Amino acid sequence: MPAALEPVEQEDIALEVNGERVEHRVPVRRLLADFLRDDLGLTGTHLGCEHGVCGACTVVMDGAAVRSCLILAVQADGRHVSTVEGLAPAGSLSDLQEAFRACHALQCGFCTPGFLMTLHAEDPAEWQGEDRIRELLSGNLCRCTGYSTIVDAVKAAWASDSPAASSGKGGA
Ligand code: FES
Ligand code: FES
Repeated sequence: MPAALEPVEQEDIALEVNGERVEHRVPVRRLLADFLRDDLGLTGTHLGCEHGVCGACTVVMDGAAVRSCLILAVQADGRHVSTVEGLAPAGSLSDLQEAFRACHALQCGFCTPGFLMTLHAEDPAEWQGEDRIRELLSGNLCRCTGYSTIVDAVKAAWASDSPAASSGKGGA
């Protein structure tokens, strides 16, 4: 009779995070959000609900916005992950971050990284107009702003004469 398989508790993963290769041994049950925050120190990714509702934990994986509270770190093995820390060089802001600041699109700021990463994954050309922008942002919850200023910021950053709009995806 074959011996019972021992459960695997840790696994080695290698991925790219914000353009840098990362190799790490992680518990197989570690969430991607916890891996980013606790193992890599990238605390810009926030945890609100921890069950896929609020969007605060949104990161971009292989070009798509994903909830990092619903993904295991081992599932990111071999992938490319972007977090809010990777949007702009240290000490500067991206076009969209600048627009959030200029339009007062945040108060406490807890939700903001999730909004930015959701927007970063998208092609502005496909989300023109207030209704479409509100539809895009419907998966991210903000308790402070009432959304109007966030929509204003997105419209400003994605306006046709903005470098963000002409640079293809995101502009975040
Ligand atoms: S913490 Fe992941 S969606 Fe809320
Ligand atoms: S700015 Fe406070 S929750 Fe969005």
